[in-house]
Amino acid sequence: MTQDEMKKAAGWAALEYVTKGSIVGVGTGSTVNHFIDALETMKEQIKGAVSSSVASTERLEKIGIPVFDANEVASLDIYVDGADEINPTNDMIKGGGAALTREKIVAAIAEKFICIIDDTKKVDVLGQFPLPVEVIPMARSYVARELVKLGGDPCYREGCVTDNGNMILDVHNLQITDAKQLEDTINGIAGVVTVGLFANRGADVVLEGTPNGVVKS
Ligand code: A5P
Repeated sequence: MTQDEMKKAAGWAALEYVTKGSIVGVGTGSTVNHFIDALETMKEQIKGAVSSSVASTERLEKIGIPVFDANEVASLDIYVDGADEINPTNDMIKGGGAALTREKIVAAIAEKFICIIDDTKKVDVLGQFPLPVEVIPMARSYVARELVKLGGDPCYREGCVTDNGNMILDVHNLQITDAKQLEDTINGIAGVVTVGLFANRGADVVLEGTPNGVVKS
């Protein structure tokens, strides 16, 4: 089974969490694209979606699923999104696609975070995948210096402008043993919009595509 086939299996498995008449929180990335394909089969039965990126919004609208502004929605039953890494306590690194801030907002609105992954995303310790940090442009150098003090090796993501008009620093060489604390610490640096650690609000359900089918945890 290819990695993409495992992503597809996880994306389609998330359909069972979608309730009729609801507005669905939709994340970003290649695994979520499979979920959006699956959601098309239910499009007459849902009110619509709240999306975490311009890319997902375009994809949803193209197949006729109405996309609501997050400000119009008081709550969401579920948020379905992928991850770049996830540890055994369901803390995640996200933001490989640069959509981390909007992802964090939609995840915060949702009651339940359904994480859809292929089997390459599970790790014992977070940090092998460089940790994305969205930064206000004028704070880039200051934030980078602060991240070095935390033991990381920040790299500017060349040519990347987020949907919010900001930039991304990818922090290499971190061994993240206390994800909640690191999330709070990095979010506390002036000029940081958000860090791509999802630990204080981790995943509630993980659907992992494997060569033997989808494993739920
Ligand atoms: C987007 O910013 C990320 O958080 C994605 O959720 C993450 O990169 C997973 O992407 P894939 O589903 O493409 O692996």
